[in-house]
Amino acid sequence: MSFQIRSFEAYQKAWGKSQDTPDEFWRDIANTFDWMEPFSSVKTGNFQEEHVRWFEDGKVNITANALDRHLPTKAHETAILWEPNDPNESTRKLSYTELSDQTCQFGNALKSLGVKKGDRVVLYMPMTPELAIAVLACARIGAVHSVVFAGFSAQALADRIEDAQAKVVITADEGRRGIKTTPLKATVDAAIANSTFVESVVVQKVTGADCQMESGKSIYWHDLIAGHSTICPPEPMDSEDLLFILYTSGSTGKPKGVVHVHGGYMVYAGYTFSNVFQYEPGDVYWCTADVGWITGHSYIIYGPLLNGATTLMFEGIPTYPDPGRFWEICAKHQVNQFYTAPTAIRSLMAAGTEPVLRHDLSSLKVLGSVGEPINEEAWQWYHDIVGQKRCPIVDTWWQTETGGIMISGLGGLSPQKPAHAGYPIPGIHPVLLDPNGQEIKENNVEGLLCIAHPWPSMIRTTYGDHERCRNTYFNPFPGHYFTGDGAKRDEHGMYRIIGRVDDVINVSGHRFGTAEIESAINETAGAIESAVVGFPHDIKGQGIHAFVILDAKSIHLTVDQLEQAAQNAVIHSIGKIACPDRIQFVTSLPKTRSGKIMRRILRKVAEGEFESFGDTSTLLDPTCVDLLVSGAKQLKTK
Ligand code: PRX
Repeated sequence: MSFQIRSFEAYQKAWGKSQDTPDEFWRDIANTFDWMEPFSSVKTGNFQEEHVRWFEDGKVNITANALDRHLPTKAHETAILWEPNDPNESTRKLSYTELSDQTCQFGNALKSLGVKKGDRVVLYMPMTPELAIAVLACARIGAVHSVVFAGFSAQALADRIEDAQAKVVITADEGRRGIKTTPLKATVDAAIANSTFVESVVVQKVTGADCQMESGKSIYWHDLIAGHSTICPPEPMDSEDLLFILYTSGSTGKPKGVVHVHGGYMVYAGYTFSNVFQYEPGDVYWCTADVGWITGHSYIIYGPLLNGATTLMFEGIPTYPDPGRFWEICAKHQVNQFYTAPTAIRSLMAAGTEPVLRHDLSSLKVLGSVGEPINEEAWQWYHDIVGQKRCPIVDTWWQTETGGIMISGLGGLSPQKPAHAGYPIPGIHPVLLDPNGQEIKENNVEGLLCIAHPWPSMIRTTYGDHERCRNTYFNPFPGHYFTGDGAKRDEHGMYRIIGRVDDVINVSGHRFGTAEIESAINETAGAIESAVVGFPHDIKGQGIHAFVILDAKSIHLTVDQLEQAAQNAVIHSIGKIACPDRIQFVTSLPKTRSGKIMRRILRKVAEGEFESFGDTSTLLDPTCVDLLVSGAKQLKTK
């Protein structure tokens, strides 16, 4: 790609240019893509206005850039390399021609179900190539995809389907992860039982398990595509037309639908992939995320395909059939760039070095980390054992809302420092603010991480509620995008991300709002009130500690039964991934006289810091702290 940076000096120059002449900087990059009609302006609006638009009036389709553009030169090169859950099953390879044909065919099939430009389609699927095909097919025909991670419960899926008002849901009979199978179609059935929007359900056969196929509504993928042409011209989209909605948790209320659009998202995902991973033609790149999260959207599907790369997709889990599986896959497919989450690194670290060292990892060139702060010990292990002290680590900081990587080293070019994400990507201007919105100019001081200028793949809105988007990201510090993270900058200008400063917990790199978990727990019979906080967890980064007040009538149940009931409530509303690690039943919560819970006390208790609670004089009942401490001492983490 002509925009690939090749030295640290070139990076510094590019960053400087992006600040001095941002429109020119982004125009040159955007013009390396194929536009059906050229854009009239690079950027319109700023953070203080209702909307920021990029590449306005340009007509484009991201799939024309991710597929068609490569066909003249890469028709037979592998686009998707798929590794199944079971290592004894065969790998699948889809060339750019095959991926393009199958995307077009499925696009035509979706049209035959009545899906039109602008319609929303929810995908609740396992990590199969069909998931990528379905994503691309939606984009191809101008439909808006909303992928829901296949570990979410029926209730969570239903909430997202309703919010998006989805016309079609695409799923599979079952998903496979390690030795477990999950009944995906049955979950969809439960989720849409009362839906007035969903007209059709498309079901990929993965395990061949029986599932209920109501006639006129459910149809198998293979039956649906039969007879459809593999020619489907890309729908011309306005640069600002919706590409996808991805739901993510915030500190208040229900998850919000983060909206990204064709033009700006395409430019930024393509640009960052090439530069951060320093991808070279012929390399095999592997990101272990799930397409259900933003990392999978930007760096399994769109970023790599926009660059004509070979992207590996893995259906399974790191520990099946044994904790050497990741490394076995790296050796088998000669992976060059490997991108994973600190939680996976920490859990594999616990299995020792033998599962790594028994595989030949000499193909690796760049290692990546994403989703949460990587602690120094995990960084060192990743660097020394996996990367054999040869491979640079790119610690990539970004968010669902940012669409692409914002702060990160560029593989092999940038100086690196354990636990530091490093320098901003060209075009990105991070600043640290104090709680009053004043910029912190000194170094080595923690501040609120904000972004000073718009960038192409920034969140456009929260679906159906623009006010919420403005209030969450743009109104707290006028003129800035507020990330919700705290960070420090060192004397060299490198950023270290400390973690969330709001009521969001990051469990194994997945975001959950405390309010969302609390409202699930409050559904438990007998629960009157609850408060949830995060605590440091060796593997998951953060664990979930729930404090729950019970109604006296529930006292006849055993603690185990009560705990199980609360866990079940969370599994029901959100899914197993959000289950509390500890549930502490309490008689009261530390509230101020105005009724506000003093979460800082709960956090200290959950962290096992039982002394020095600071000023507790504003508490309605200061003695409740002693009870919390004695209760916490008796708890064990599950
Ligand atoms: O707190 C930051 C953390 O993950 C949050 C974003 O979560 P999500 O939207 O689910 O996206 C995750 C994948 C991009 C951020 O607000 N986070 C993400 N990457 C890092 C990180 N924290 C520290 N270092 C990172 N590299």
